[in-house]
Amino acid sequence: MKDLQLGTDIDRAARHLSAGELVAIPTETVYGLAANALDETSVARIFKAKNRPHFDPLIVHSHSFAALLPYLGEIPPAALKLAESYWPGPLTLLLPRNERIPDLVTAGLPRVAVRVPRHPLTLELLVKLPFPLAAPSANPFGYISPTRPRHVLDQLADRVSYVLDGGPCAVGLESTIIGFEPDGEPLIYRRGGLPTAALEATLGRSIPALETSTSQPQAPGTLHSHYAPRVPLLFGDPATLIARHHGKRLALLSFGATAHDLIKRAAGHISLSPRGDSIVAAARLFAALRELDRPDRFDLIIAEPLPEDGVLAAAVNDRLRRAAAHG
Ligand code: TXA
Ligand code: MG
Repeated sequence: MKDLQLGTDIDRAARHLSAGELVAIPTETVYGLAANALDETSVARIFKAKNRPHFDPLIVHSHSFAALLPYLGEIPPAALKLAESYWPGPLTLLLPRNERIPDLVTAGLPRVAVRVPRHPLTLELLVKLPFPLAAPSANPFGYISPTRPRHVLDQLADRVSYVLDGGPCAVGLESTIIGFEPDGEPLIYRRGGLPTAALEATLGRSIPALETSTSQPQAPGTLHSHYAPRVPLLFGDPATLIARHHGKRLALLSFGATAHDLIKRAAGHISLSPRGDSIVAAARLFAALRELDRPDRFDLIIAEPLPEDGVLAAAVNDRLRRAAAHG
């Protein structure tokens, strides 16, 4: 049966959003669950649909840096440079905001997360709208982010008016989030689709990462159990973990060439990139996790760490580590 909620009708998406409703939008990173960022009632619907706590703030999306300026305060020079270099693209900047951004969007924080996504359909939609879009990833709070329209419909069909079909997400990991110290020094708040090495090359200095804290969710994705599949996930050396959990129905999520005897001992197997490419692995990660998240077929998912030298390896490993953190 044809899904009437899914399509490429930008005018329809714009109508729903203008009426205060929720629309899932494609971006190069993951699908977002979007609403009018300037309307508190619309934004409240996002929190309700995702079952997301109100202390976890949202990213505001627009079609250009210039279009975001009316909502922002003073911008650190490093932020300007990054915005000019990487937007549209998988980068989110935490910048001082003014009172035009509702408190609900930032959880009352003085900074707002902003980004210009790189997807033609969504850029076209944003150009049409007289307001920016607040959009978290379009998954129930704590679950794996969606990288296909089907992922959104599987879980949120009854809560979105429309899903704008932009195909599979090219990058597959959420945006890299950069904040700035009071002296203007950049800090990595979340590793993501834009490699740290690229940002460091642009700024000509190394960028430290904010310590991930489980008690103080002041920062993105620092809540411990994020991206968690229903099937418990173990992150570590596959040979060791497979030997330790002998007799269980194991799903193996590997990277690179995987030894045949390991594959044989698993009830299911996906290699994120048989060639060992971390960019390919990132693009496939969330779809693969969803495919293996089958409690009817598997007791455990065993996920192999990527060697840290791949450009997106640290970001992929970060997601797998969080997927493994239970409770
Ligand atoms: O790639 C992405 O960033 C996707 C697409 C849809 O743009 N969005 C996304 O949103 O990943 P979400 O809500 O799943 O993750 C955004 C993270 C949250 O963990 C939130 O805590 C953090 O950004 N965040 C948002 N505003 C913030 C702020 N003012 N200060 C600190 N962290 C903030
Ligand atoms: Mg999310």
